[in-house]
Formats: sequence, C-alpha cells, structure tokens
Amino acid sequence: RTIRVEVARFRPGEDAEPVFQGYDVPLMTDWAVLDGLNYIKDQLDGSLSYRWSCRMGVCGSCGMTVNGEPRLTCGTFLNEYGDGPVRIEPLKGFPVIRDLVVDIDDFLTKLSSVRPWLIREGEEPPLTAEYAQTPAQLEAYKQYSMCINCLLCYSACPIYVLDPDFLGPAAIALAQRYNLDSRDMGDRFDVLNLEDAVWGCAFVGECTEVCPKHVDPAEAIQRYKLTAALRSVLPWSKK
Ligand code: FES
Repeated sequence: RTIRVEVARFRPGEDAEPVFQGYDVPLMTDWAVLDGLNYIKDQLDGSLSYRWSCRMGVCGSCGMTVNGEPRLTCGTFLNEYGDGPVRIEPLKGFPVIRDLVVDIDDFLTKLSSVRPWLIREGEEPPLTAEYAQTPAQLEAYKQYSMCINCLLCYSACPIYVLDPDFLGPAAIALAQRYNLDSRDMGDRFDVLNLEDAVWGCAFVGECTEVCPKHVDPAEAIQRYKLTAALRSVLPWSKK
C-alpha cells in the first residue's frame, strides 16, 4: 500500500514558479512525513532539498507546510492523511531557497535583537558562576524555554504575513523566557514595547495552536503587554 505525496519543487532564479511533483511512498503505520521525504530522497529523487536533523522533535529544523498547516514533519504521520494525497510545501511567510528549504535569516536577526541570553550586570558571556534557583523560580520561565525555533508560529501568524517587520511569536516568547528568569538582570523593554513588537499582536492565537512544544507564545505576548502597560504608570517596575 502506498500514499501519494506531492512535494513543492522550486529553484528560485531557475524556475518561474513552484510546481508540485508527485511520488508514491509506502504507507507504513510508523512513518512520519519526514520518513516519506527521506524515502523519496533515498529511493526516488536525490535532488529533493529539505532540512531535518534530530528526527525527534528537538532540533526544530523540519518544519514545513503539510496539507496547508505548519507542522513538524518528524512528528506528523503519513497515516493521519488517510489515503492521501499529502501535499508538502515550505513554511509559508519565508523566502524559499530551494524546494522545501526556507531562508530564516529574518528570524535570526529578530531573535538576536531581544538578546536571548542571561544578562548580568558587570558580567559578560560566557557566564561561569552558578546561580541557584528554586523550583518555583524555574517554573516561572520553563515553558518558554521549550521553544525549539521551528518557526511554525511565524508561518501561522497572520500579522507576520502582513507585516514582515513584526517581531513575531517565538522571539517575544524567548525574550520572556529570559525576562522571567530570576538570574537575568536585563531590560528588553526597548525592543518589546513597540508597534512592531508586542503591540502589533492582534491575539489571533494561531501561534499557540500550532506550537509543537506548547510554549504558548500568544500568552507570552499578552503578558508582556501588561508588563509594558504597568511600566508606563510605574516606571520603576521592570519585568
Ligand atoms: Fe528535528 Fe524534526 S527533525 S524537530
């Protein structure tokens, strides 16, 4: 038994537009969509380009659009799609480099703008001292630390599609990961309290819906809106 997998093929600069190429892939109960792509690459068409690494939902590199939805292809199974077809496209909202590989430079620039590391006054990275935390202090930011930068949230976000300057869900959630860390002494107000940052979010919530790690970026953004609003009346409150 096989399932039809239709894959977007595109080489910018060479092809006028993407086309879908169909392949018949064995329908194994334990095969993820990524296994189907690997089968195509190994057995049918070695020219297919896509990213993956860990195959276990950790590295975040295998995000693609599967039947219209942003998904981690290593955690999405072929048999979820019945008799098929399964249509695989690159993550929407990002320029395509080739086939299913997208350019994520924009996200990396935005991520670095929120300084996603522990900031300590008078200390420069790499930090070598140990700073003990209570379980409650860990719990305060732990969920946001689960982000694997897979960018499904950006692909699902209607604001990011309309306004590419929007800082976006993962970068804001990761800023909150450090804002809420008891060891952090940084202040990210200047990059978060902007129309193109937390105030650009219309709270559609699709970012939270598609997050494979249940990070809840929508909640992180609304939470920082409250922080920023409080700071406008209590300027000394920082986090
Ligand atoms: Fe690493 Fe899918 S291959 S998250």
